[in-house]
Amino acid sequence: MGWPVKHSLSPKLHGYWLDHYGIESRYDLLPVEPENLENALQALLVNGYAGCNLTLPHKTAALAYMAEVSDTAKAIGAINTVVVREDGSLFGDNTDSYGFIESLNAQCPDWKKTVNSALVIGAGGAAKAIVYGLCQNGIENITIANRTLSKAKGLSDQVIPLSDLKDNLPKVDLVINTTSLGMTGQPELEIDLSRLPNHAIVSDIVYAPQVTPLLSQAQKLGLTTAEGIDMLLHQAVPGFEHWFDIRPEVTQEQKNIILNEVSK
Ligand code: ATR
Repeated sequence: MGWPVKHSLSPKLHGYWLDHYGIESRYDLLPVEPENLENALQALLVNGYAGCNLTLPHKTAALAYMAEVSDTAKAIGAINTVVVREDGSLFGDNTDSYGFIESLNAQCPDWKKTVNSALVIGAGGAAKAIVYGLCQNGIENITIANRTLSKAKGLSDQVIPLSDLKDNLPKVDLVINTTSLGMTGQPELEIDLSRLPNHAIVSDIVYAPQVTPLLSQAQKLGLTTAEGIDMLLHQAVPGFEHWFDIRPEVTQEQKNIILNEVSK
C-alpha cells in the first residue's frame, strides 16, 4: 500500500520468491489514499491477504491501526510490514534496519571488525531505521549530518549541518547516504571522500543508479562500498517469512531481475 505505489519493485521481488518456492499466492499493488488507510488495513483480512508492505506516506500513520507492533517498529516510529494474524488482528513490523544491517553483512562481511564510528547523512525515516540498526549492533559513535539541523536533533547526540561534513570524515569508519541525493534525476551529494581513512566503508541506500556518484567516487579511491539494492532485497525477507512461514533466500538471479527493472 502506498500513494503513489505504481513504481514499487516489491511485486517483482516477492513474485520471484513465490515462484521459487512454488507458493500459490499473489503480491498486489494497492494505491491507497492517506484518508483510506484505516479502511484498507481493516479490509486486508476479508480480501484474503496475509499482510502487506507500507510505503510513503503510510509508514507512520499506520502505527495507530495495529493491535501490536514489534519493538523495532516502536523504536523507529514507523511500520513497513503488516501481518494479518490468525485471529484477524494486525501486527506491524519495521524491517528497514534489518535490511540495512543484512546488506552490510552480505557486502562487507567483516564490517564490525573495523567500524567504530559511523556518519549518517540525512535524518528522515530511513536514517532513523539505520541509526537504530547500528545501535543494536553495538555502534554507538554515530554522527548525523543533515541539511536541516533541527530535524536531526534527537536522532543522535552528535548532529552536524551537511555543510560541515568534511571536518568529520577523517575519523569516520562508515559513511551512509540516506538522502535521495545521487538518485537518477537528483543532484549529487557533494562530498570529498579522500578525507576518509583507507579502511572506510561507503554505503548508499539509493539503488537507482546501482552505482551512485558517491559509490563511484569511493570505488575510485579504493574504498569498500555497499550498494542500496541489497538493502531493498534484504528488507523484504522478514515480511515474506511472516506471511508464508518460509525464510526466503536473496539470490543473485533475483538481484539481476530487480536491477533490470531499475534500469528500465
Ligand atoms: P526517507 O523516509 O526516505 O528517509 P525523508 O523522511 O523525506 O525520506 O528524508 C529525506 C532526507 O533527505 C532528509 O534528511 C532530507 O533533509 P532535510 O531534513 O533537510 O529535508 C534529505 N534531503 C532530501 N533532499 C535533499 C537535498 N536536496 N539536499 C540535502 N538533503 C536532502
